[in-house]
Amino acid sequence: MYQPRIGDPLDALDTPSMIIDLSLMENNITSLMQRFRDEGTHVRPHLKTVKSVELAHQLLVAGAIGGCVAKVSEAEVMAQGGIEDLLITTEIVGTPKLARLVALVQKYPHIKVVVDSLIGAQVLNEAMQQAQLTINVLIDLNVGQNRCGVMPGEEALTLAHALSEMKQLHLVGVQGYEGHLQHVHDQGERAQRCRQAMEALTTTAAALRAAGFPIEIVTTGGTGTAETCANYTGVTEVQPGSFIFMDTDYRNALGPCYANALTVLTTVISRPTPTRAVIDAGLKSLSIDSGMPEPKGVPGVIYLPGGDEHGILTWEEREGNPPLEVGDRIEMIPSHIDTTVNLHDYYYAYRDGQLEAIWPVDARGKVQ
Ligand SMILES: Cc1ncc(COP(=O)(O)O)c(C=O)c1O
Repeated sequence: MYQPRIGDPLDALDTPSMIIDLSLMENNITSLMQRFRDEGTHVRPHLKTVKSVELAHQLLVAGAIGGCVAKVSEAEVMAQGGIEDLLITTEIVGTPKLARLVALVQKYPHIKVVVDSLIGAQVLNEAMQQAQLTINVLIDLNVGQNRCGVMPGEEALTLAHALSEMKQLHLVGVQGYEGHLQHVHDQGERAQRCRQAMEALTTTAAALRAAGFPIEIVTTGGTGTAETCANYTGVTEVQPGSFIFMDTDYRNALGPCYANALTVLTTVISRPTPTRAVIDAGLKSLSIDSGMPEPKGVPGVIYLPGGDEHGILTWEEREGNPPLEVGDRIEMIPSHIDTTVNLHDYYYAYRDGQLEAIWPVDARGKVQ
């Protein structure tokens, strides 16, 4: 059986496989870190994109101050892998999860978590009290996404006052993630609406400080907005995740500021008609929640899902049809990077066409 070995050419790899172009990925990391170093804002990348301990370490080496994770199970993987300054950006609710969080904080005291309700804070406080632990918490604000979060202003102040009665919880910051703006195509509109969200976030942080709460962390931003956020006075850190690999959804919205550094390598397994080729990558290899992935380097060819294991490439009949034959290999650019990465066990990392590293997607399937 073929086992990929370091130094192998790309042609040797089995498909479908998730491959990284290392030069492009490294450029994405360097250019993002450079931007925020100039702004003086910390970068706490969202590790729910990469789900990889190795890549999390590379981001730290490049200048990140820690990481964000979405789930306790992701936090477990990252903390055990040596990434200890973690912010869990989702509210943690329910007995089993709280027990896991307590066990984690016992070992890794720098883990922080967001709260947005009195009940949620109370059960977190009780769980920590039973274990005689404290945890740093951030108030999650709704700055327009209408997902989780208390409203900026009064609601946040009310929750902060309630938190001050809960001895195991130390309020250290606020989070306000403007997820609804990440893919707004018009750059001016995206920036303008983002500044409104930052105004709500930073004025609430200031009001909390004025009321005596020690708000050190004001955290926000994704790949689409991080620059505007970082420019806004009062924001202390940004949380972009997708920039490292990008996807077609982000590329279409932002243009070429970061490169598409990850693709899924596939093989043409059938050529039934002059305008159709079938590849070995369907819904189990490529997500379609943000639209269709794109075949790389064959303009005019579109992808349609052909079921769990098959993908259909199709095109208008014309002179010089794409020269796709059975056995040809074609790279697919994901439309949504996070949900595609979560479908694969390994990253195969290439430089100049040669395999340089194989990294597990350590937190694959960690959804709890
Ligand atoms: C709370 C939070 N912060 C940051 C991000 C990172 O966003 P992106 O991967 O779009 O850069 C996300 C993504 O969903 C998120 O939910």
